[in-house]
Amino acid sequence: CGLATAAPTPTTPSMLDDVMARGVLRVGFDVGYQPFEMTNKQGQYVGFDVDLAKMVAKEMGVKVEFVNTSWDGIIPALLTNKFDVIMGGMTVTPQRNLRVNFADPYIVIGQTIVLRKDKAGAIKSSLDLNDPKYKIAVKLGTTGEQAVKRLIPKATLLQFETQDDAKLEVLNGKVDAFVYDLPYNAIFASQNADSIVHLAKPFTFEPLAWAIRKGDQDTLNWFNNYLRQIKGDGSYDRLYKKWFES
Ligand code: ARG
Repeated sequence: CGLATAAPTPTTPSMLDDVMARGVLRVGFDVGYQPFEMTNKQGQYVGFDVDLAKMVAKEMGVKVEFVNTSWDGIIPALLTNKFDVIMGGMTVTPQRNLRVNFADPYIVIGQTIVLRKDKAGAIKSSLDLNDPKYKIAVKLGTTGEQAVKRLIPKATLLQFETQDDAKLEVLNGKVDAFVYDLPYNAIFASQNADSIVHLAKPFTFEPLAWAIRKGDQDTLNWFNNYLRQIKGDGSYDRLYKKWFES
């Protein structure tokens, strides 16, 4: 008819729109990472990330569904739409940030060392472990693995698929040390004070954040404003006390 019609407005791929339409927020994580995501005796998922995910979903007015995924495949699983967001204590690293977008950090931690008790005299820091005669267990694909490769390069590195397998090695005395995130190690060491020692001073700096697929400014904006709100109104502090100070 000759009348100019406006071109359709280009839409951005917003995860929020998908989630609202579906009525479910799908959260990817890797369970067994205390105190962020664990399974309780009734078989339910519990932890800091679990509570945060539930709060997010409640605020969006949708249900939450957890998708347990092995850590070394968790970014590919996000990118192939197996879930909407990683809420699993993921450290923001420049390499990961080339593949995903991160919301603002929700907590800052670092890597620490759990030692066989009989090594506590000889080893006082990561520097002392930098020798091929020392065996260090890590979980595959974690920043613990990266930290050992980068900062303790001469030590003998042993990678395990799960954190449980890796931590058993140091408990059973098959390796000298286990390197992982501070909050995990603090609980691990306090429960096994007879056989292991925690060098609790972090030797890396690691902001943890929620990861989403790239190019989704809508969702990033929602997450960042939500985080600022709960950090300001006391609900974040209550949750923090529940999982980190009890
Ligand atoms: N912060 C470490 C990393 O980003 C370990 C996180 C492990 N998380 C988990 N849910 N198992 O590599």
